[in-house]
Amino acid sequence: MRAHPAGARHGDVAPLTQQVAPAPADLAYLDPAIWPIGTERRGGAVVLGGVDVRDIAEQHGTPVYALVESDVRARCRSYRDAFGDDGDIYYAAKALLTRALCRWMDEEGIGLDVSTGGELAVALAAGFPADRILMHGNNKTVDELRQAVTAGVGRVVLDSDIEIARLAHIAEELGVCQRVLVRVTVGVEAHTHEFIATAHEDQKFGFSLGSGAALEAARRVLMLPSLELVGLHSHIGSQIFDTAGFDVAAHRVAGLLASVRDTLGVTLPELDLGGGFGIAYVAGDDPVDPHSMAKQLRAIVQRECAAAQLPTPRIAVEPGRALVGPAGVTIYEVGTVKDVDGIRTYVSVDGGMSDNIRTALYDADYTITLASRESDAPPLLTRVVGKHCESGDVVVRDAWLPSDIAPGDLLAVAATGAYCRSMASNYNNVPRPPLVAVGNGVSRAIVRRETIDDLLALDQP
Ligand SMILES: Cc1ncc(COP(=O)(O)O)c(C=O)c1O
Repeated sequence: MRAHPAGARHGDVAPLTQQVAPAPADLAYLDPAIWPIGTERRGGAVVLGGVDVRDIAEQHGTPVYALVESDVRARCRSYRDAFGDDGDIYYAAKALLTRALCRWMDEEGIGLDVSTGGELAVALAAGFPADRILMHGNNKTVDELRQAVTAGVGRVVLDSDIEIARLAHIAEELGVCQRVLVRVTVGVEAHTHEFIATAHEDQKFGFSLGSGAALEAARRVLMLPSLELVGLHSHIGSQIFDTAGFDVAAHRVAGLLASVRDTLGVTLPELDLGGGFGIAYVAGDDPVDPHSMAKQLRAIVQRECAAAQLPTPRIAVEPGRALVGPAGVTIYEVGTVKDVDGIRTYVSVDGGMSDNIRTALYDADYTITLASRESDAPPLLTRVVGKHCESGDVVVRDAWLPSDIAPGDLLAVAATGAYCRSMASNYNNVPRPPLVAVGNGVSRAIVRRETIDDLLALDQP
């Protein structure tokens, strides 16, 4: 992600003077750090999970999200192995959620972190074991909380005083004792290699550690017989490439665990460190591998708890992007190529900000390639844009493509498994693309393409 030029808004088109990486030596190269495991070219065309993208496009149309199942499963296994039997992995369903994906997660021994009644409903419809579901949200409604307790979710992460009272009442009514964690804002903001440790915690999530609100929340929960406080939760950011931010956060949370023990007389057995583990979107992005991340996190928590003379709690993490992001590729068809004299070439595709809002929203950067054929043409610096009525509708801001790029070509954008389909919209009444699972040479829609009839069915004249 690039910094915004001073005064620019998220949707602004970057100034022409912006630094652009030089053209890669080989435009057809598929960096294994960025593309799904096993991605290759056959006869010039990109092959995902053993399926030629031209076949995916022919069978399912474009744009289409392809998700390589073996890649998702391999990443789940890697996290599972890395954190071992004394750790819990909850997949953050906000990154992408379908019933098939719930099944894969379940089969790989991963739990689910859901944030809304809608996400919970999908998980339950998939038959996901409720006791391995953890429920987040800063404004869970009474209905959502009741749905969660009735289903028997394993953990509810408490986010406000009002919610403590609400949940206690619901659990009491239903005659159960609900396990809960208290979400703590620790004053750490982390992104990639940077983190800021602040004293103030100006955000909507959780209870402030600095003000004493988190300790007070723990005290209140411990007094309620229908709630069982099992631990603390902290989430510090997204697209994090190292453990420096977690180090500060763990230090602060361990301090709170010690205060809970010292002032409330209870040693809490669990510590959930949230998600935010980064992935490679472009060349040079260098995320920490899960084994090294797990080892470092464990060492940090052990050190901090030992210093406070506390037993090491069971660690949980909530990776979203890291489990599904790299497995996803979006395939678009080029519709027009427009040379805007002396400025740049715009390549328009048949999707855009409705299927991937991250470029417009966060100035996110992606890797794109000509996917349907080979080309010897020299590299041309282009801007790949969508079909929406918005000049900020950019798919890839600076994309080196072969200069013979033409209508009908397929383009593939890597690392779009997370926060693309789940954040998709119907802007301009564009139906959302299908999500297609690929593997062993076969593709299958796990979410079908929306149709205009679907949209009209919601419209009540
Ligand atoms: C509480 C919590 N857990 C986990 C995640 C997942 O983050 P990521 O997909 O970056 O791993 C998020 C993302 O916003 C979050 O808010």
